Amino acid sequence: MEQSTNRHIAPYSSLEEKFGILEQKNQEALLGGGAARIEGQHKKGKLTARERIDLLLDEGSFEEIGKFVTHRGKDFGLDKEHYLGDGVITGYGTVQGRLVYVFSQDFTVFGGSLSETFAEKICKIMDLAMRNGAPVIGLNDSGGARIQEGVVSLAGYADIFYRNTMASGVIPQISAIMGPCAGGAVYSPAITDFILMVENTSYMFVTGPKVVKTVTNEEVSSEELGGASTHSSKSGVTHFASANEARCIDDIKHLLSYIPQNCEETAPLLPYAQGQDEARPKLNALIPANPNQPYDMREVIEGVIDEGSFLKSIKTTPKTSWSVLPALPDAALAL
Ligand code: HXC
Repeated sequence: MEQSTNRHIAPYSSLEEKFGILEQKNQEALLGGGAARIEGQHKKGKLTARERIDLLLDEGSFEEIGKFVTHRGKDFGLDKEHYLGDGVITGYGTVQGRLVYVFSQDFTVFGGSLSETFAEKICKIMDLAMRNGAPVIGLNDSGGARIQEGVVSLAGYADIFYRNTMASGVIPQISAIMGPCAGGAVYSPAITDFILMVENTSYMFVTGPKVVKTVTNEEVSSEELGGASTHSSKSGVTHFASANEARCIDDIKHLLSYIPQNCEETAPLLPYAQGQDEARPKLNALIPANPNQPYDMREVIEGVIDEGSFLKSIKTTPKTSWSVLPALPDAALAL
């Protein structure tokens, strides 16, 4: 992609010129790493970082922060390639009327890899979320530390991990893994409260199969190394596996409906239908008198909690009807 033009506005340019440049920058920022890479993202059955935010937040509620930030790195060709926003879209908005802070990593910009400024944008969102007592939702699609920036980028992760631990138990931290995520891009989500993965298009690993092959000569598929099936059946790293991205975002919304905004608030209360308990099977009838006889624990759970409210992990919650979702690339909805 071409170097972003008109980055510096001449001090004596007219207001009209300044507005023109602002508009130009706004349009450029929307394109991330460019139209060709966006198409590549769609072909893989993935949405773009902005499309994901559009799906997640209430319409028109998103306030973006740091839209025109670019990286500071100059080595390994970074001085010749700049993208407005620097590969992560950050801001706040509402989900079903509730305030949330969001960052959404843009794989079309250097594979969503994390630079010093990218890390600063995420830290700002986390600080604001803690100050205002609202959940942080990370939509992750990143190859980890931006290799060209070296240790500066690694230090950025230290700042994020520190905030992950400070926010733990204070505000909910939800991580959706929506692409091939490596290195720091999974170490941070792994220490958050809830992790969701998208089947067949999202991966969590220390590094990808190509690097594994180069370094260890071992051949392993992405799915085996860190796919949703591996993390939901072997490692137990992910709490939810969703059939596609739109469902994953729907699952985030559903999950949010169970949890409070912060450690000082209570979870949302739902109206209680009088008499509903009387119609349910009694625990006495479920638990056998003989202590050696097995019984179905799920029936016991269903008998104790509010009817229909059991949120099973590792299972897609097919809630939203597709017809109410905005138009999406077909691949993103494929099961
Ligand atoms: C810079 C990166 C990058 C990275 C990917 N890209 N990862 N650029 N830094 N970490 C770029 C690629 O060069 C490529 O650029 C574009 O993103 C897309 O990547 P592909 O490899 O073509 O995509 P794909 O085949 O889907 O594979 C994605 C991937 C793989 C699995 C993430 O790229 C990969 O394994 N990357 C290395 C991951 C890694 O080792 N990360 C660890 C960093 S260290 P072009 O220009 O060709 O489109 C770390 C430690 C933190 O995070 C510790 C904190 C204390």
